[in-house]
Amino acid sequence: MTARKSTTKKPAKPAARKARARLTGGGRARATVSVDLGERSYGIEIGEDWLETIGRRAAARLDVEKVALVTVSSVSRRYAPALTRGLQAAGVRVRKVIVPDGDANKNLNELGKLYDAFLDHGLDRGSAVVTLGGGVAGDLGGFAAATFLRGIPFVQVPTTVLAMVDASIGGKTGINLPQGKNLAGAFHQPRGVYLDTATLRSLPARERAAGFAELIKAAVIWDADFFDWLEPRVESFLALDPKVVIPALKRACAIKAEVVERDEREGGLRRLLNFGHTLAHAIEKHARYRGILHGEAVAIGMAFAAERSEALGFAPAGTSERLIAVLERAGLPTRAPNRPRSAYLSAIAVDKKKQGGKIHFVVLDGIGSSSTAALEPRDILPPGWKA
Ligand SMILES: NC(=O)c1ccc[n+]([C@@H]2O[C@H](COP(=O)([O-])OP(=O)(O)OC[C@H]3O[C@@H](n4cnc5c(N)ncnc54)[C@H](O)[C@@H]3O)[C@@H](O)[C@H]2O)c1
Ligand SMILES: [Zn+2]
Repeated sequence: MTARKSTTKKPAKPAARKARARLTGGGRARATVSVDLGERSYGIEIGEDWLETIGRRAAARLDVEKVALVTVSSVSRRYAPALTRGLQAAGVRVRKVIVPDGDANKNLNELGKLYDAFLDHGLDRGSAVVTLGGGVAGDLGGFAAATFLRGIPFVQVPTTVLAMVDASIGGKTGINLPQGKNLAGAFHQPRGVYLDTATLRSLPARERAAGFAELIKAAVIWDADFFDWLEPRVESFLALDPKVVIPALKRACAIKAEVVERDEREGGLRRLLNFGHTLAHAIEKHARYRGILHGEAVAIGMAFAAERSEALGFAPAGTSERLIAVLERAGLPTRAPNRPRSAYLSAIAVDKKKQGGKIHFVVLDGIGSSSTAALEPRDILPPGWKA
């Protein structure tokens, strides 16, 4: 192994750097969450304005000579330079590969282009992938890393709230096929996940709120204290107040990590993360994945699932009201688009087939506690139900 420290290189403007470092917490992680999976364990490190340090830390963690930096157009321009500087300062050769923006590009064609770029750059079994962007960059770049030469290491640098608390953790990677979303994929745990909350400043407000829906999901299925803490801090989170954002991301990541640790390959517990997703998938399918963000559909699905949890006798009265109030304060939708019940039923029936003949519908037992119930579509959407 070669030394990867760059202490001998003088920064161009030491004074300016120092001032910036003081302002921004010195380029250190402010919080760390560990994901304990035996020899595949890794850390999630959270900091603010520290992309260059992330590059150096990722390089040390990966200990490789060559890296393909997989990113998307909207993120590349703003954030790839600092991350690349950090990687290069640690002696890594970096080839940036840009994927066009949007979930529609998480496909076989773009995957093929990634393999071409990897080969062209001479990546071998001793190389690695770094993903920089939202869930699209992470899922696609991660899947390329999982499959290239039967798997090379990778690290995730998520830049959306959704990717920070959900997509980048847990090792699920994959692509969409023409027949449906996320139909091809692999479990491939990253070697590290690095969050820079400063990247969220450029994230459109609507994307921020949509990712926040998954953060609320983590709280409501798992941790009543966290939900209580979040309830009065919705606006501060969305305004990216570091005093709220960093602890909130930390707790949400820790919840996802805990669930994944106990059920890495989705045998049971990990299904709880699908809270709100039964109806969400139906809504997204009907909208043909246009005009509504995933987190928005999840917000509607959670409001619905909370109401059903009360109606079915799992959750005490008032549970859904509290959840819906938080979602609404975040500007998220909570009512399903007006379509006939039959349309929703048939969409849910497709989910049932995928899950092996049963729907593991996630219900709340109250704020901060959840379980799954094996239900038929007609029990989830009872006769007379209206969107
Ligand atoms: N692997 C998993 O466990 C898992 C879990 C949940 C979702 N996902 C996948 O994640 C994807 C959705 O992730 P997403 O919501 O992050 O979508 P995304 O990656 O498409 O990002 C959303 C939008 O924000 C832009 N963007 C990203 N970071 C930005 C920044 N810092 N500033 C400005 N713009 C920025 C992107 O270019 C894009 O237009 C889906 O493909 C979904 O299937 C995977
Ligand atoms: Zn989701």
